[in-house]
Amino acid sequence: MEQNITEMNNNNNLQKLKSEFSDLLKENQRESRGYKYTVPSPHLYPYQWLWDSCFHSIIYTRLGELGWAKDEIRSLIAGQWENGMLPHMIYWEKNEMHNVNWGTEKNTSSLTQPPMIAYAVERVWKASKDDDFVREVFPSLVRFYKWLRDERGEDKLIRCVHPWETGEDDFVAWDSIYKVKEPSKKILENLKIDILDRFVKTELNSKEFLKMNIFSLKSLLFNSVYLRNLESMRLLANIISSPEEEYFQELLPKVREAFKKNLFNNQFKIYSSYYDGNVCIENIENSSIFLPLFANISSEEEAKELVEKYLKNEDKFWLRYPVPTSSADDENFQPNRYWRGSSWVNINWFIYKGLRCYGYDKVAQEVRDATIRMINKTGFWEYYNPINAKGLGAKNLTWSGLVFDMDNPD
Ligand code: GLC
Repeated sequence: MEQNITEMNNNNNLQKLKSEFSDLLKENQRESRGYKYTVPSPHLYPYQWLWDSCFHSIIYTRLGELGWAKDEIRSLIAGQWENGMLPHMIYWEKNEMHNVNWGTEKNTSSLTQPPMIAYAVERVWKASKDDDFVREVFPSLVRFYKWLRDERGEDKLIRCVHPWETGEDDFVAWDSIYKVKEPSKKILENLKIDILDRFVKTELNSKEFLKMNIFSLKSLLFNSVYLRNLESMRLLANIISSPEEEYFQELLPKVREAFKKNLFNNQFKIYSSYYDGNVCIENIENSSIFLPLFANISSEEEAKELVEKYLKNEDKFWLRYPVPTSSADDENFQPNRYWRGSSWVNINWFIYKGLRCYGYDKVAQEVRDATIRMINKTGFWEYYNPINAKGLGAKNLTWSGLVFDMDNPD
């Protein structure tokens, strides 16, 4: 009975949220130079961002707007560099926001972001069965994933050269790389600019920069996304009978093996991020520990431990509006701060998918319910206080629409 009432409330709330979201989309959609894309948020993030557009494509797919779902991918690919990199920002129409020296004359940033694009294309295909679309975008995807391996690879895993590449920009876990304790927002901003300047000084030569150990990070989220997306690449290759299928088929077990060998922390018995080759980050108890579920790399036993000891633990991650980016019992947990203890809808979406993958449907449902309650309380924000659902950061952030995709295991 109680279950039915919750479900009814959720359905009513979802209908209301869907109509609010359709207004939000209209405000955030853009068309420029013949390409269509959606900005993350009109005021704070007025350009195109890489992993945001992948999430947007997934949301459009789920809402049945396949035209937009494909256009988000096409505009991302229009910004691809000759070397294969997909930049994390494309300035279709430049204004005074986010003006930093990227070391390039192009209308893009010179960094990348978590490689969600193959998974997004897989979702478009599953909903449309449009082989021609896969044929159209697949060669660009191959160039991107090969660029990652060739330029950023070490031991079959991928390294980020900048916190902006991780997608989890101000993560507490990165403090140990900078060797700073409790940094203010200003200190972190200066650090990010400084790291970018040093990368630019190498003329954007990742290999040279990575040797300098300024920022050389095997991020757990980035590599989990990479691994899951290699599965998508293998599937897409198969769909269009591409000879590249063999490449991805051979690469996958090697990446899985390297992941298990190099990203597992034997002391804590969970996966973690590593920097400078093999140094484990501190503040290991953060929301990325759940990403291996999305990558389908955890054993059943590890998955159980993640759910029971971490996710459903009220002293750590199971707060009123889960899932915070840092464990609540971490000394650096700050519920209002950007990536330092706040809850994010895209992280909840990853966790939802991972839980479904391991058959934890009921817990997945609880994560979904909490996400709906959170958005219902304060609207579509960039991130939220996990204790009272206060909306924080950018208002009307598009990827928070991922909540609509938290109802199937795909
Ligand atoms: C912030 C987030 C990043 C996201 C961007 C646009 O920089 O940290 O992950 O892509 O905003 O939403």
